[in-house]
Amino acid sequence: MKLVSSLAILVLAIVGVAIDGCHCKIVQFIFGDSLSDVGNNLYLSKSLAQASLPWYGIDFGNGLPNGRFTNGRTVADIIGDRAGLPRPPAFLDPSLTEDDILDNGVNYASGGGGILNETGGYFIQRLSLNKQIELFQGTQQLIINKIGQEEAQKFFQEARYVVALGSNDFINNYLMPVYSDSWKYNDRTFIDYLMETLEGQLKTLHSLGARQVMVFGLGPMGCIPLQRVLSTSGNCQDRTNKLAISFNQATSKLIDSLPTKLANASFKFGDAYDVVNDVITNPTKYGFKNSDSPCCSFGRIRPALTCVPASTLCKDRSVYVFWDEYHPSDSANALIANELIKKFGFLRVNDTNGPSSAPAPEG
Ligand SMILES: *[C@@H]1O[C@H](CO)[C@@H](O)[C@H](O)[C@H]1NC(C)=O
Ligand SMILES: *[C@@H]1O[C@H](CO)[C@@H](O)[C@H](O)[C@H]1NC(C)=O
Ligand SMILES: *[C@@H]1O[C@H](CO)[C@@H](O)[C@H](O)[C@H]1NC(C)=O
Repeated sequence: MKLVSSLAILVLAIVGVAIDGCHCKIVQFIFGDSLSDVGNNLYLSKSLAQASLPWYGIDFGNGLPNGRFTNGRTVADIIGDRAGLPRPPAFLDPSLTEDDILDNGVNYASGGGGILNETGGYFIQRLSLNKQIELFQGTQQLIINKIGQEEAQKFFQEARYVVALGSNDFINNYLMPVYSDSWKYNDRTFIDYLMETLEGQLKTLHSLGARQVMVFGLGPMGCIPLQRVLSTSGNCQDRTNKLAISFNQATSKLIDSLPTKLANASFKFGDAYDVVNDVITNPTKYGFKNSDSPCCSFGRIRPALTCVPASTLCKDRSVYVFWDEYHPSDSANALIANELIKKFGFLRVNDTNGPSSAPAPEG
């Protein structure tokens, strides 16, 4: 009897170790486009999608360009900060080590990248979502070699994942006649094609251990300054906005269908379409003064496709919704992040008030 019970205790102890979390930190792995890039494209020397010159980064750290396509923080920066998670470094940074990955996670986001391989071909170099997932598999091998299969599995299962792509699949693919997708598909079949592709990618991430995944939807991308200059009226492009809404609805439906297909996982979808649309219509309600033109612009030349040292800056960057022709400003990103946090309803990873690190997101 004695032997049996001590064996039972031993077995329990082993199970206890096995189900215990790993002795590593909770970090994030971020997959995205220019809205989340923190420097990958700086290392893609042939890429035409670059945030390598002033005045990108003017309100971040030392004020020098850091690869972010905005003046300050990205939406993922702000959401991660609020969750108490470290900011993951760019995958392509040559100084990145296994210890950095274990401490901070990795960001694979790349300006010009899309859900589809063919998106953004015009930029010559960019990391598509498939390519980013391939790189993540490489990262997993590095970590397995460093800490072993079992600990690595726990590390990747405890991590948080962000998937934030889609606008380039429209702006730099479907809506441009130079891309064959623009005439091979119609609005409905193109979104079906995106959903099929995204579903496969999310399943791959799950098979690689991702258990807590936040998928970001699209904003009213027909209202980015670049889209407004397409019409003489300077109004938002209605068709482009409708595509964003359809994409969000389809993605939300896809994510809702996943729990039954993917075990032990929390996949969440959130978008900030409505609030951004309201900011654009009623900027002053939210403390903004300009919601239709970029803060950084090249004199009267519109669209100047990027912000460059010769561009002029608006006087007060905090009251402009858009930083350049494509991308929101730091203050608009803060508003978008707040909205997404509400939608995702997550807790801090390290709540100082809690007895232990609270696993987020809840539910
Ligand atoms: C959470 O807090 C613990 C103890 O203060 C710390 O060791 C750990 O690195 C923190 N984790 C994160 C993700 O910040
Ligand atoms: C997309 O690119 C990946 C490589 O990154 C490749 O493995 C995959 O087969 C491609 N998919 C399609 C549909 O072309
Ligand atoms: C889900 O969790 C259960 C219980 O912990 C485990 O037995 C099962 O293998 C897990 N499934 C996956 C796909 O991780």
